[in-house]
Amino acid sequence: MTLALIGLMGIQIYWIQNASSVKEANFRRSVTEAMVKVVQKVERMEKNKALQTNQYESMLNFNRHLTYDTFLTKDELDSLISSVLNSRGIDTRYEFGIYKPEGSQFLIKKSEAYQKELIQNGYAFPLFQNDIYTSPEYLCIYFPQEKQFLLTELWGMLLISIILIIVIVYSFTYTITTIFRQKRLSEMKNDFINNMTHEFKTPISTISLACEALSDKELRGSGEFLESYLSMIREENKRLSVMAEKILQTAVIDKGQLKMTKEKINVHDIISDVIKNLRIQVEIKDGEIIRNFGATRAVIEGDKVHVANLFYNLLDNANKYSPKKPLIRISTENVHNGIVFQIEDNGIGIGKNEQKKIFDKLYRVPTGNIHEVRGFGLGLNYVKAIVEEHHGKISLESEVNNGTKFKVFLPFVIKE
Ligand SMILES: Nc1ncnc2c1ncn2[C@@H]1O[C@H](COP(=O)(O)OP(=O)(O)OP(=O)(O)O)[C@@H](O)[C@H]1O
Ligand SMILES: [Mg+2]
Repeated sequence: MTLALIGLMGIQIYWIQNASSVKEANFRRSVTEAMVKVVQKVERMEKNKALQTNQYESMLNFNRHLTYDTFLTKDELDSLISSVLNSRGIDTRYEFGIYKPEGSQFLIKKSEAYQKELIQNGYAFPLFQNDIYTSPEYLCIYFPQEKQFLLTELWGMLLISIILIIVIVYSFTYTITTIFRQKRLSEMKNDFINNMTHEFKTPISTISLACEALSDKELRGSGEFLESYLSMIREENKRLSVMAEKILQTAVIDKGQLKMTKEKINVHDIISDVIKNLRIQVEIKDGEIIRNFGATRAVIEGDKVHVANLFYNLLDNANKYSPKKPLIRISTENVHNGIVFQIEDNGIGIGKNEQKKIFDKLYRVPTGNIHEVRGFGLGLNYVKAIVEEHHGKISLESEVNNGTKFKVFLPFVIKE
């Protein structure tokens, strides 16, 4: 496609060049025709004048007898040239003169401008060619704006070509980027399906094992076993429904149908609850969650469940993506119209190029961690949607291998 496009553009340029040289040739021809006519007229004027003054001699030969000033003024020549050029559609500035190479002098000259160009680059036409006694003289004409004049004639064609080329290049790049985007999306979807199958498989097999054990009549007799299997089933079932809920939630966000209840909530209480749920997971890895609640005004307007999920996701990420001893700090601070939260970890960090993409649905940083750390790539997409629903802001600072700091701002009241 690229080759075809380049070829097409090459052909286009070739045609424009062609058209421009045709125009140039046309111009030359018109000028020549016009000036030949001027030369004829000048010669006839001389003849007429000569006939009036010196009849007999003039009738016998074709020689020239009069000097220019006796039969032709500069202005007469000018209006002659101008009318002949105009009748041929040549409507651009010109400079003319009658030049005699012998003695390199101008016998008539329109003005003092362009003297050199007139001799070197102008069009020259011999005058009184039949006069064999006087040395040759030339009527020279030069168009200072010849190039521009030819260009204005081509202007329409050039403009259309340029617009068409821009349109084609634009649609071409648009198509290519769309193809690449679709390709990435389909890869992400594949990863997602793989991950999801994995995540669902564990609880399903645990539950089926527990069920099998429960169908054993001997085991059923012992109340202790019964209870432990039942609680196992309950736990795994809860995990399944949490995962299903997460996936469903994303579909809801996509459709823009997120439901939010607005009530007064205390964010410090919510965060403390979330930390309670996550503490064991962090402590297993010998890590620690440090709170620093600096905000004196901690009550905001919002949805309790969604805000809890928001912090759960951020803290869960901080823990998941810190392979060694997670040290997670969460702090709050009042600003004039709301609260700023900072969630900082000492984990693997996120590269500059990835930072924009991590909020995309299904996106996971492809540094091999996909297989080590489980996840759907939905968490941050959900977090962003919730922050936006609360009219807040989210940003991050991170460096690879140097931890990540998420900053979330939530206002006290949600203005409509
Ligand atoms: N604190 C962090 N440190 C390093 N990388 C992070 C951090 N938080 C997020 N990431 C990167 O951003 C990606 C997207 O995060 P997100 O929470 O959306 O998905 P996930 O954690 O992979 O899956 P889940 O849907 O279960 O949350 C992650 O896969 C990870 O690569
Ligand atoms: Mg996550």
